[in-house]
Amino acid sequence: MDEAVAGHYGGGEDLVKIIADGLVRSGKSLEHLTAVDLAPVDEFHIRGRRATEDLARALCLGAASRVLDIGSGLGGPARTVAEMYGCHVTGIDLTLAFCDAATALSGWVGLSEHVAFRQGDATHLPFADATFDAAMTIHVAMNIATKDLMYAQARRVLKPGARFGVYDVLQGEGGDVLFPVPWARDPAISHLATPEAMMSLLSGAGFRILEVTDSTQESQRWFEAMAARTAPAVTFQAFLGSDFPEMTRNQIRNLQERRIRTVSYICEA
Ligand SMILES: C[S@@+](CC[C@H](N)C(=O)[O-])C[C@H]1O[C@@H](n2cnc3c(N)ncnc32)[C@H](O)[C@@H]1O
Repeated sequence: MDEAVAGHYGGGEDLVKIIADGLVRSGKSLEHLTAVDLAPVDEFHIRGRRATEDLARALCLGAASRVLDIGSGLGGPARTVAEMYGCHVTGIDLTLAFCDAATALSGWVGLSEHVAFRQGDATHLPFADATFDAAMTIHVAMNIATKDLMYAQARRVLKPGARFGVYDVLQGEGGDVLFPVPWARDPAISHLATPEAMMSLLSGAGFRILEVTDSTQESQRWFEAMAARTAPAVTFQAFLGSDFPEMTRNQIRNLQERRIRTVSYICEA
């Protein structure tokens, strides 16, 4: 199943080259890129960089913080947080092609000293107990059936009192998800929790839930705006391929019909 998930995300061609070529074609110079230039492709979740900033603000971070990003993808959220606070962020992700791309992109924007990416599984984190001052996970658990293991691992590697920010796609009350969606082409690798299940999963892992924010309506508006505007130089299509437009149409309906919801949790270890 892990291979099916990694294959869904990283089965394509040379991702770094595709992103570099797209940026150069649109007139950008790789020597003068900023993290914001990369956001349309490397903040791989609904509501983009702004959603990462909102989550980060609740994590009580400072320059000395050691932060873990679980399911770090192309590294956009990790770089955003590193840039906001001058802290160090370690990203871990199942998809090797994403870890390699995350490392390359960090070099382009001069953030290599502040971030590190390695391949690994959220349900078996390769870190000692109480390593991190904060952790976040953005749009990852939809691919993970054993969320109890994932959150128990997050709790284990956090220092007591550390904050854990979760922003995920949940199962809504409006019916079954319409596929394909950006995290799965069919139900085989899609495992959405309900909002009720999330509360017991997080508290069952030993977290105190401090704040819950439902952003479903904002997410719907974000997707509608994305579908309506001219696409930026490089988008999620770089790795999701030619069915990305269909995924976008499905996501708009999934949100409109409340088949999915987007919800954030701020927790304390
Ligand atoms: C939709 S992307 C989100 C990436 C990133 N968090 C972001 O918001 O830009 C989902 C990511 O979760 C990763 N993932 C899925 N299952 C995982 C697991 N068991 N352990 C680690 N990463 C996983 C995928 O490889 C993919 O990079």
